[in-house]
Amino acid sequence: MNEPDIVSLDTADPLAVKRDDFDLPEDKVYLDGNSLGPLSHRARQRAQEVIDKQWGQDLIASWNKHHWIDLSIAVGAKIAPLLGASPEQVVCCDSVSINLFKLLSCALRLQTDRSTIVSEQDNFPTDLYIADGLSQLLGEDRCKLRLVNEACLERALDDDPAVLLLSHINFRTGRLHDMQSLTRAAHQRGCLVIWDLSHSAGVVPIELDHWQVDFAIGCGYKYLNGGPGAPAFLYVAKRHLANVNQPLQGWMGHSAPFDFEPGYKARDGIGQFLSGTPPIISLSVLDAALDVFADVSMEMVRAKSIRLSELFINLIKQNRSLAELELRSPTNSDDRGSQLAYAHPSAYAICQALIAAGIVADFRSPDLLRFGFSPLILSFQDIQHSVQSLASIIVEKRYLEQGFNQRLRVT
Ligand SMILES: Cc1ncc(COP(=O)(O)O)c(C=O)c1O
Repeated sequence: MNEPDIVSLDTADPLAVKRDDFDLPEDKVYLDGNSLGPLSHRARQRAQEVIDKQWGQDLIASWNKHHWIDLSIAVGAKIAPLLGASPEQVVCCDSVSINLFKLLSCALRLQTDRSTIVSEQDNFPTDLYIADGLSQLLGEDRCKLRLVNEACLERALDDDPAVLLLSHINFRTGRLHDMQSLTRAAHQRGCLVIWDLSHSAGVVPIELDHWQVDFAIGCGYKYLNGGPGAPAFLYVAKRHLANVNQPLQGWMGHSAPFDFEPGYKARDGIGQFLSGTPPIISLSVLDAALDVFADVSMEMVRAKSIRLSELFINLIKQNRSLAELELRSPTNSDDRGSQLAYAHPSAYAICQALIAAGIVADFRSPDLLRFGFSPLILSFQDIQHSVQSLASIIVEKRYLEQGFNQRLRVT
């Protein structure tokens, strides 16, 4: 594709204006919104307001005056439409890891005569660690983790597991599961499903209600742009809400926390999934960040995400000096989320050289360069510029510089 064609893609892009909602450094192309979403103006303003006015001036009265006490439920309701869920089934709290612990415990309690959790070998490790930890706590008769590869998933359902635990989009390769058909297949075998939506919420259309999903979890700091360590969300289908008991019974999940009774009585509905005091500053920032989605449809976001990633793939293919990069993501855009992974033996150093050149990507061990495409902030010219920088780093072998080969703690 030539220069004028790429410019015209930007001119015709209905989401191009969204970039003005964000506070991005001028000299960077940010291809890491799949890991940590960027700062929006609204999020920045809200952080200042919560700190200076609410906490600073109104102090403890803010729990009532600024509705801090209801914020976890309100933010959950704001996330719900992005998940194809009606609002009373989503709450925003804790981390994905902790919410998964709650949901796995609930799912296993519902499945009294089954004990196996089926997941994928290359699921995001925290999901596997939490399942393994629960197995150690409950014992293998009540909770046993079985890991299979993607090709064996449907076959594993024949053994009547209790729960199918999957990530909608694979964190390394970006491979996208067919959530509807896997959920249906699991239900046909009496198995419940828990989907981790960390890499899909805010960038891929999702229909949790329509697809009859049982439970879901996901991050607030990736495509939802809630900031580092933003609280996560969890979804419980309405039909399960009256029958579940989550084990982290903290006072915020109690029906009357300010009665300070010694005995626990869970509140009705999704609020029972709260445990401790919510992180009001982060929660407020996420609340404000979500406003950017008010006037965009997930279909528009998805259409641009596919165009950005297709352009990236095609520009790499056209450039002979980039032949040593091997695409490890599915080639069909319907089978991918909004990220691409390329293998290269010097992936780590290339990534560091790219960051030094203002192209922020990331590295996943052992040899993957990962590029995320956030449709609300990226232009098609950003993609062209990124591929040109990548080519010059590889052609000039700039990644061999010693500084680019020293591993940092966070990659
Ligand atoms: C698929 C997936 N699940 C979970 C997490 C992290 O969860 P937590 O909120 O517990 O840090 C990540 C982080 O990148 C992730 O990619």
